Amino acid sequence: MAISVDFQAFVDEVIEKNDIVDIVSQYTKLKRVGNRYQGLCPLHHDKNTPSFSVSADKQLFHCFGCGAGGTVIQFVMAKENLDYTDALNLLAERARVPIPDRRTPSERDAQLKLQEKKEKIYKMNSLAGKFFYENLMSPQYKFALDYFKNRQLSEDTIRHFGLGYAPDSWTSLIDRLKSEGYTENEIFEAGLSVKRDNGTYFDKFRDRVMFPIIDLRGNVVAFGGRILTDKENSPKYLNSPDTPVYNKSQTLFAMNFAKNSSTNGILLMEGYMDVISLHQAGFTNAVASCGTAFTEQQARVIKKYTDKVILCYDSDEAGQKATYRASDILKTAEIKARVLTITSGKDPDDFIKKEGKDRFQILIDNAENIISYKIRKLRENYNLDNPDDKVEFVEKTAHIFSEMKNSVEQEIFVKKIADEFSISPDSIFAQIRNLEYKTKTKENSRLISNQQREINTKNQHITNPEKLKVFNAEKLLLNLLCDKVVFDRVSPTLNPEDFSTDLHKNLAEIIYNTHKKGEKINPTAIVSSFSPELMGRVSEILADDKNVDDRLRAAAMPYKIIKESLNSKTISDKSDESMLEYFKKLKEEKQ
Ligand code: UTP
Ligand code: MN
Repeated sequence: MAISVDFQAFVDEVIEKNDIVDIVSQYTKLKRVGNRYQGLCPLHHDKNTPSFSVSADKQLFHCFGCGAGGTVIQFVMAKENLDYTDALNLLAERARVPIPDRRTPSERDAQLKLQEKKEKIYKMNSLAGKFFYENLMSPQYKFALDYFKNRQLSEDTIRHFGLGYAPDSWTSLIDRLKSEGYTENEIFEAGLSVKRDNGTYFDKFRDRVMFPIIDLRGNVVAFGGRILTDKENSPKYLNSPDTPVYNKSQTLFAMNFAKNSSTNGILLMEGYMDVISLHQAGFTNAVASCGTAFTEQQARVIKKYTDKVILCYDSDEAGQKATYRASDILKTAEIKARVLTITSGKDPDDFIKKEGKDRFQILIDNAENIISYKIRKLRENYNLDNPDDKVEFVEKTAHIFSEMKNSVEQEIFVKKIADEFSISPDSIFAQIRNLEYKTKTKENSRLISNQQREINTKNQHITNPEKLKVFNAEKLLLNLLCDKVVFDRVSPTLNPEDFSTDLHKNLAEIIYNTHKKGEKINPTAIVSSFSPELMGRVSEILADDKNVDDRLRAAAMPYKIIKESLNSKTISDKSDESMLEYFKKLKEEKQ
């Protein structure tokens, strides 16, 4: 795809208005060294050698350690894990550069149509929600309201959550929505009806109490419907399918309320009813996933508001498994998880009814670190009076402890557990070291082969010292060639094809063409024209200023090295004598 002039101008403006030193400084401490900045690389977690280098003049970065490099855009892509467009837009917004609309007319048209369709579905869902609520409040369906009242929900709570009732009828909702002007197919696309093989439709939710699912902007996007009396051949809950406005794996029930809760942290539970009970009791930070297991996308939604979650799953075996799975997902999302254990009843709804909200608050206050939860659960499988059991238990705890990154925390925990189960802490530590040794050895051999690969690609497998000398001379000369004065002097007697590698040839060609067109060298634009794997190497060449005052003088040595290597191959070239003479003279002057 050709890139339009306008778009290139936009990219240039974004780069120009986001100073790379500013941006990088948000992630790592940079120190000025001459006319560049250096620091620990924020992309590969340098420990102590500052291998990360930023050129303020050139607006480029590169890292000797991990080989990354490029403009501020590539930096944000790598650091924030974004694709090119997202990184560009993020930086554009930061610098308040208006983002151009790059969509083609047909794309724009398709998006407009989708938007219209979504608006319609929001409307239908909202009308359906009203219809269900009216039914719930109608004397005709008093038994439905009684259902909620028996579950101790107040009328305020019912209104707050917009709960409802779908009558025992095949088409009552379809009829209502048709009378509002919607077609049968539109109602189907909203997930509110089911299509028969013969092409006719019937209401999806029949004779169920209804729980509207509301997105973060307050739109009703879906429903869960619960059967009033448990039946064997009917699912307890029915849920809306995914639609253009609803993706169940990205949605959390009651997140629209929880996001405004004054309590820091989220209480994650299994069921709609748990959440509603908890909100009624004042715990307005409770949410649940919508008929699915907890997902990574849901974790990302939570992470936008908080990095603390308390898992409040049911006390049964399934709840415990779900706790493990959710805690892994939360860990990946860098959210701190604690586990609340329901000590009476099967779920939070049950507990709060039996024990009240003050006792629930105590459960929250006592919520455990996930590590001690896992160890406590592990403990239940062993008889520690039996020596074999004890050995295996210690081994397994070591696995759990080695998940902990913070060594101080680890030590505190090990001591606590050792004390609790009358085991010597040293035996646990020994097991942990043992495990760590094993994983480290694996990790090291992986690292070494990575590093080897890096060095190989960096120097393009150049092991011959003579060739390496030429290669390095070319890097320096390419850098200096960005200066018009050097170019004017060097270009008549040295062609881009004279460089020894494809990368150097390409780069030389770009630099030559730019000078020939009378344009100024723009290092960020040059780097951007290379593929991502090569950007690091191009940045490295262009960014480094080598701290030279007289660039022409500095070009002498690399020029000579390159010329000599060429002459040893092709003896015919004599045209550069004057150039060599000139450099010789400069050298003499200096002495
Ligand atoms: P539970 O079976 O624990 O129900 O399912 P609950 O939330 O405690 O409901 P009550 O108290 O019996 O009324 C937990 C969640 O799993 C989903 C629902 O989201 C439910 O809230 N689920 C359960 C379904 O989607 N379908 C089902 O058939 C059952
Ligand atoms: Mn329940």
